Amino acid sequence: MNQKKGGFLISEKEIKERVKAIADEISRDYNGKNPLLVGILKGAFIFLADLIRELSIDAEVDFLAVSSYGKATETSGEVKILKDLSESIDGKDVIIVEDIVDTGLTLKYLYELLKTRNPNSLKICVFLDKKERRVVEVPVHYVGFEVPDLFLVGYGLDFAEKYRQLKYIRELTPEEVKNV
Ligand code: PRP
Repeated sequence: MNQKKGGFLISEKEIKERVKAIADEISRDYNGKNPLLVGILKGAFIFLADLIRELSIDAEVDFLAVSSYGKATETSGEVKILKDLSESIDGKDVIIVEDIVDTGLTLKYLYELLKTRNPNSLKICVFLDKKERRVVEVPVHYVGFEVPDLFLVGYGLDFAEKYRQLKYIRELTPEEVKNV
C-alpha cells in the first residue's frame, strides 16, 4: 500500500511542514480565542486531526457530513447535509476545514449556510486548492497546496472510498482508475 507510483506527489514530509505552517498562522490569527474547527466529512478528517495537534491555542471540533451534489445537480451546487453540527455556532469563531476545493460549489454552499447561523467570524481552511477548476468564487483564507487538475488521492482523499489512508498525496494511475 505504501508503494509509490510515478506522477504528481506531495510527500509526507512536505505535508507535515505545510500543516505546521498553517497551524502556526491560525494560532497567531486566533491568539486569545478558542476557534471551532468544523471538519467536512469524510475527506477532511485526516487534515483536521493533524492540524489541530499543531495548534498552540485551544480549539474545539465539530463535523458536518455532506453528500456530493453529483453530476446532475452540478450547476445548482446544492449539497445534502447528511450529519449536521452537534451544537450551535452562534457567537463562535468558526473555521471550516476541507480536504479539497475544486469547483467551489460545496464550500460556497456550506459557507453561506453557516453564515446564516450567526458565528462571530467564519473562515475557510483547505488542504488542497484546484484553483483552475473553480466555478464559483469562495473565500479561502488558508491553503495547504495549490494543485493541478489531476486525480489525486491520499491524506483523506479517496477514489471509490480507497486510498484515504495514504500519508502522502499522489496522482492516480490510469490503470488504477480503470480497475475500480
Ligand atoms: C470532495 C471534497 C469537497 C468537494 C469539493 O468531497 O471533500 O467536499 O468534493 O468539490 P467542489 O469544490 O467541486 O464542490 P467528496 O464528494 O469527494 O466526498 P468525501 O469528502 O466524502 O470524499
